Amino acid sequence: MNDATTGAGHGPARPDGAGDGTRAVRAGLPEPVKHEPTLPGPVFAAHFHLPGDPTGPYTYGRDENPTWTLLERAIVELEAPGREDAEALVFASGMAAISSVLFSQLRAGDAVVLPDDGYQALPLVRAQLETFGIEVRTAPTGGDAQLEVLDGAKLLWIETPSNPGLDVCDVRRLAEAAHAQGALVAVDNTLATPLGQRPLELGADFSVASGTKQLTGHGDVLLGCVTGRDADAMAAVRRWRKIVGAIPGPMEAWLAHRSIATLHLRVDRQNATALALARALRERPEVTGLRYPGLPDDPSHRTASQQMRRYGCVVSFTLPSRARAERFLDALRLVDDATSFGGVRSTAERRGRWGGDAVPEGFVRFSVGAEDPEDLVADVLRALADSDV
Ligand SMILES: Cc1ncc(COP(=O)(O)O)c(C=O)c1O
Repeated sequence: MNDATTGAGHGPARPDGAGDGTRAVRAGLPEPVKHEPTLPGPVFAAHFHLPGDPTGPYTYGRDENPTWTLLERAIVELEAPGREDAEALVFASGMAAISSVLFSQLRAGDAVVLPDDGYQALPLVRAQLETFGIEVRTAPTGGDAQLEVLDGAKLLWIETPSNPGLDVCDVRRLAEAAHAQGALVAVDNTLATPLGQRPLELGADFSVASGTKQLTGHGDVLLGCVTGRDADAMAAVRRWRKIVGAIPGPMEAWLAHRSIATLHLRVDRQNATALALARALRERPEVTGLRYPGLPDDPSHRTASQQMRRYGCVVSFTLPSRARAERFLDALRLVDDATSFGGVRSTAERRGRWGGDAVPEGFVRFSVGAEDPEDLVADVLRALADSDV
């Protein structure tokens, strides 16, 4: 196995201070090897040849895989550029990544702070943590209310911007307060992506994400990742991945790495269109509760502008009733009625249909894709008009 696949090389030159696009297209690539592809193909292996003492890097396929290594390196380069102490681990899904951090760091008797308005599977995680004797406290994302319940906590879990409400909290301020009393800080960075926000630079110990969303961006891969800067904490996360075996397939990992090369293009396009859509929706009388952190008058904007470099591709708003929201979704021609977000094809859904989020019946979470902005905005405005019967 050569350096290209073992990941032992340091990859092609990445100029210091290079822009996001320049870094994204090269992220994680190995040193060029004559007659080898730029991005080596997926390595399908349950086990590796291993005569003698069982030393790494590659022994058994649940522990390590060369395709993961390259993807993990790409994620570190985007999440924590220039940080020698950072490492990343990839998982089978965002939930696998989230659970691996929580369950590897917390013990019976510990207290953890979770958002009460975060991703809708968190209440399931909460119930599981409680059965293990872990005290779970919750706080809303906006307004840094976590500070009120931080006392004595072992871990602070932040989701900013929150899904689906798009509230934002001040990561730097919360991380300082948490660290002052010895608590670790994890940030769910799914919605922002590493091009929108770098939690480790803001003081977090872990940046955790569902790579299923905009990071991979095509709606065809489930993936999770954890990036961290504390070697002991990351060793515990790695151990948890080995124990539960929540590992990505090599094909998924390779697809994800390939997709990261276009991350900056997708993010810039989708996020610019999200702002255009938010501006258009702001003019509509039937739209209330419009949220987009990139809108200058959004309640999240001030904090978001201090810690985010891009504001995401999700816009949320409320239509007058469940029936109106359903007619609107039905009338859209360029937008799939589907859950998830971040893909190149726009999706939207009436979030209340799941029953897990505290949102009005007419609440719509809209994920802006890579369509031409004027086509998408026109489709939305037409669907709003057509659904007004
Ligand atoms: C903010 C956030 N975190 C985590 C997840 C879970 O990710 P996955 O579906 O990849 O397990 C999601 C999924 O929607 C999410 O929106």
